[in-house]
Amino acid sequence: MSGRSRYPISLRTSRCVIAPLLLVISAGSLSGQSSWAPADAAAARPQAPSYVGAEVCRACHQEAAAAWEATTMGRVLLRRPRNELEARACEACHGPGEDHVRGAGDRTKIFRFGRNSPASVAEQNTQCLQCHESGARQHWSGSVHEGRNLACVTCHTVMRSVSPERQLARETVADVCYQCHLQRRAQGQLSAHMPVREGRVTCTDCHNPHGTATPKLLVENSVNEVCYRCHAERRGPFLWEHPPVTENCATCHEPHGSMNTYLLRVREPRLCQRCHIESRHPTTPQGETARFVFDRSCTNCHSQIHGSNHPSGMRFHR
Ligand code: HEC
Ligand code: HEC
Ligand code: HEC
Ligand code: HEC
Ligand code: HEC
Ligand code: HEC
Ligand code: HEC
Ligand code: HEC
Ligand code: HEC
Ligand code: HEC
Repeated sequence: MSGRSRYPISLRTSRCVIAPLLLVISAGSLSGQSSWAPADAAAARPQAPSYVGAEVCRACHQEAAAAWEATTMGRVLLRRPRNELEARACEACHGPGEDHVRGAGDRTKIFRFGRNSPASVAEQNTQCLQCHESGARQHWSGSVHEGRNLACVTCHTVMRSVSPERQLARETVADVCYQCHLQRRAQGQLSAHMPVREGRVTCTDCHNPHGTATPKLLVENSVNEVCYRCHAERRGPFLWEHPPVTENCATCHEPHGSMNTYLLRVREPRLCQRCHIESRHPTTPQGETARFVFDRSCTNCHSQIHGSNHPSGMRFHR
């Protein structure tokens, strides 16, 4: 066994575990889905390695198996598999384990995940997509994150639970995203911010990190549809509509966080004057106390800026 000197664990395992293990294997007491043959016959076989079943893996990897069994995925695959693929359990992800077991735990003979794996990110993701291609991952292929070579296991930790739910690699959804989106983290600290930090909203309320048919990974067909999920009163219909509002809330609001009140992209009156330069209101600079720029500025008078249902609300005064 060439692995001995390099891997002290295999020394131990080979003494205490391998011998009884091979007995177990040849006694045929395995879970039954694999076509395992007695050791001597198998040695003469040139075909692809076969599946040995989770009980064999467990013999050497007790801790890993126990931690995994406590996760949702582990429970289903080990205790209540619904099809042949799920019944492979460990080997559904790590591939057939025969050669790995014969090599007394030769790590080059088992499919591994993470940065140090010889398998490419795409190959690693393929293992997961065997079971998770539909549903939220429908648009994974071709998504921004797939295009940037993100691995499922960048955001998910599978063998044990690190987060309260969804097998996330960090405790919260936002912390998963903040690994890379540092600007969003910074925006969360600004005076006006979506209450992500407060736990009332999170990134996945508005984005699907697995890919969408829409730009910016939005969970709805447009920015506005996303906002209406929670701000339904802004949907209207209004007797008097303000075109930029029905078009795109993000024209005036920066949804993650801003230095200005109400998540505004720029302060009033400049916010309005980006479009209303031709209005009868003076567009020349005003003194700080002038009625056009004082306090809430334009919305002092045009308070129904998102639309009005008042018969004479065409100027959004009421
Ligand atoms: C759903 C896919 C999947 C299944 C099923 C699975 N693993 Fe893993 N395994 C992984 C991934 C991914 C990693 C990389 C670390 C992580 O994400 O937790 C890993 C890492 C490991 C490691 C390296 C040490 C560690 O814990 O990080 C061992 C050992 C291991 N798995 C053994 C097993 C055994 C034994 C079983 C069955 C009881 C099993 N795995 C089932 C995906 C899986
Ligand atoms: C005879 C004991 C034994 C059995 C049975 C066994 N392993 Fe291992 N396995 C080991 C040893 C020892 C190592 C550590 C090798 C090393 O560190 O180089 C290892 C390493 C691994 C790793 C790589 C961990 C890493 O370094 O990232 C994975 C994944 C793994 N085993 C999964 C499995 C799976 C799945 C099964 C069942 C098909 C299984 N093992 C069965 C002994 C065993
Ligand atoms: C053999 C099928 C299979 C494979 C392969 C598989 N999963 Fe799963 N996964 C499941 C099942 C079954 C569940 C339990 C929930 C369900 O029924 O959908 C699950 C649940 C999950 C969940 C949600 C956990 C929760 O607490 O809600 C995540 C996240 C997940 N898997 C990620 C992965 C990743 C990442 C990989 C690849 C490393 C992977 N899965 C590979 C079958 C699989
Ligand atoms: C950029 C980070 C990220 C990547 C990459 C990622 N996920 Fe997720 N995944 C998440 C987050 C965050 C959630 C929790 C979603 C929620 O709470 O609504 C999640 C939830 C899940 C769930 C459980 C809920 C559901 O939608 O069914 C599964 C299963 C899952 N991911 C599988 C995968 C697989 C498979 C891959 C790789 C193809 C993958 N994920 C890649 C971040 C990611
Ligand atoms: C491992 C790094 C990484 C993680 C973790 C990550 N992202 Fe990304 N994300 C990227 C990269 C790289 C891009 C592409 C940026 C670019 O092209 O400018 C991107 C782009 C995006 C985009 C813009 C999509 C577009 O169409 O322009 C959104 C939205 C996004 N990510 C949301 C999320 C969310 C939500 C999470 C957490 C669930 C997350 N990301 C986690 C790396 C990551
Ligand atoms: C309230 C909804 C909402 C929440 C919550 C949210 N986003 Fe966004 N995000 C958006 C919208 C809408 C856009 C598109 C803005 C635009 O078109 O100008 C966007 C754009 C992005 C982009 C792409 C920016 C660009 O210019 O390409 C990234 C990256 C992103 N969000 C990451 C995140 C992360 C990370 C979180 C969690 C901390 C998060 N978002 C939370 C609504 C949201
Ligand atoms: C998942 C629910 C949810 C979604 C989706 C959502 N919001 Fe919010 N929004 C909130 C909550 C919660 C608050 C805080 C309300 C409070 O403090 O009373 C808030 C507050 C705001 C505020 C006021 C901020 C302040 O400083 O007072 C603005 C502006 C806003 N959202 C705009 C948007 C826009 C634009 C979108 C679409 C890109 C959007 N919201 C999508 C939940 C959501
Ligand atoms: C033309 C610019 C503009 C557009 C477009 C716009 N808003 Fe606003 N929004 C404002 C201004 C200005 C305020 C501050 C109101 C004030 O000063 O009374 C505000 C305040 C808010 C507030 C917090 C105050 C409140 O009344 O609850 C929410 C929530 C909000 N907007 C949601 C939205 C949503 C959702 C959309 C898209 C449907 C949207 N806004 C589009 C300019 C805009
Ligand atoms: C993205 C461009 C844009 C922004 C920003 C914008 N508006 Fe408008 N606004 C319009 C358009 C387009 C109309 C419709 C003009 C028309 O029907 O002739 C309009 C109509 C109005 C009207 C009714 C005027 C009329 O002629 O019927 C008022 C009042 C108004 N806006 C005030 C504001 C205020 C106050 C702000 C800042 C909070 C603002 N607008 C920001 C584009 C914008
Ligand atoms: C002191 C109250 C007040 C303030 C502050 C105010 N407006 Fe007005 N605005 C009005 C009134 C009243 C009208 C209606 C005039 C009419 O119907 O002839 C009006 C009309 C408008 C119109 C319709 C076109 C026009 O010129 O008649 C636009 C656009 C407009 N305001 C934009 C703005 C912008 C942009 C600001 C901020 C720089 C602003 N308003 C600040 C009271 C105000």
